[in-house]
Amino acid sequence: MPTVLLTGATGYIASHTWLALQAAGFDVVGVDDFSNSSPVVLERLAELSGRAPQFERASVCNAAAISGIFARHRPQAVVHFAAFKAVGESVERPLAYYANNVGGLVAVCEAMQAHGVGRFVFSSSATVYGQPETLPIREDAPVGATNPYGATKLIGEGVLRDLGRADPAWQTACLRYFNPVGAHESGRIGEDPRGVPNNLMPYVAQVAVGRREALTVYGNDYPTPDGTGVRDYIHVMDLAEGHVAALRALFDAQGSFTVNLGTGQGYSVLDVVAAYERASGQPVPYVVAPRRAGDVAACWADPAAAAQRLGWRAQRGLDAMCADSWRWQQGNPQGYGAG
Ligand code: WQD
Repeated sequence: MPTVLLTGATGYIASHTWLALQAAGFDVVGVDDFSNSSPVVLERLAELSGRAPQFERASVCNAAAISGIFARHRPQAVVHFAAFKAVGESVERPLAYYANNVGGLVAVCEAMQAHGVGRFVFSSSATVYGQPETLPIREDAPVGATNPYGATKLIGEGVLRDLGRADPAWQTACLRYFNPVGAHESGRIGEDPRGVPNNLMPYVAQVAVGRREALTVYGNDYPTPDGTGVRDYIHVMDLAEGHVAALRALFDAQGSFTVNLGTGQGYSVLDVVAAYERASGQPVPYVVAPRRAGDVAACWADPAAAAQRLGWRAQRGLDAMCADSWRWQQGNPQGYGAG
């Protein structure tokens, strides 16, 4: 089966995709610099897959190192996860985000071009839609970045579009993730944000396991059913399987495409809190605070394009997302540890 190179391979989405790709019969090689992930993930992948992961430690911005990886492993496709992803941090450190997210993507594409590899799956984000005008969001909705992180994703999509226009050998898939949550059913890999979690579910998980006192709900005065923000949460294993479907489409030479990876179902912050309390049997106390700058009231996907183009639909619901997240968090209260 083809060999696929994953960048950012020990990160949250990539590590779950690694398992899904192996289950689908792909050979996987991972590269990461551990700038935002733990080497312990490799031990867990070995435990879950029953084989030593093929892994190289390197930064995607190190062109010589990436070129050496291509020469040694000869991948036929790349899934590019490596990027910084904190919206707030991107506002404070825009240059680091452009250097890593855009510079890293360009360096990987240069290595691909030098080694005659044209299949590229890009980890994009629903944040490219900014403040959505209509819901659910279709892929032809207007795009517009509202923060440097979102801008780096839009630029990345533009780079791939222009590469495809210049040379049909480029077969690219831009996957616009909505809100990935949950963990592999084993509970042995999961989301392990460094410091205070920016995102809702890992924060809720840390409250449930007793690592944090209470959740801060950023605003309950939105025009939504219960006043709190509504998002399209998608189980990370559904997301991982979406990457398998996208790669299969690229290997079937169906051309380049951009699709939403979401469920099409929105849930509010308080829906998530209630679901997590049910799944964990633990209370999740919260306090209401003013809205968070940059947040939109509601955002959920129209998932029809991915269903039609890839034959893929999310299968897991909010209760499974919470139950699998809780199994990971309860079994790993400090995440992967200090490592
Ligand atoms: C979800 C809801 C918050 C934390 C971001 C990025 C997006 C993607 C996913 C990278 C909102 C509320 C949150 C908390 C809260 N990341 N919330 N208390 O903002 O939809 O998306 O992460 O690709 O690009 O923009 O996700 O989980 O931060 O927030 O009340 O402590 O939960 O206001 O309504 P978001 P989120």
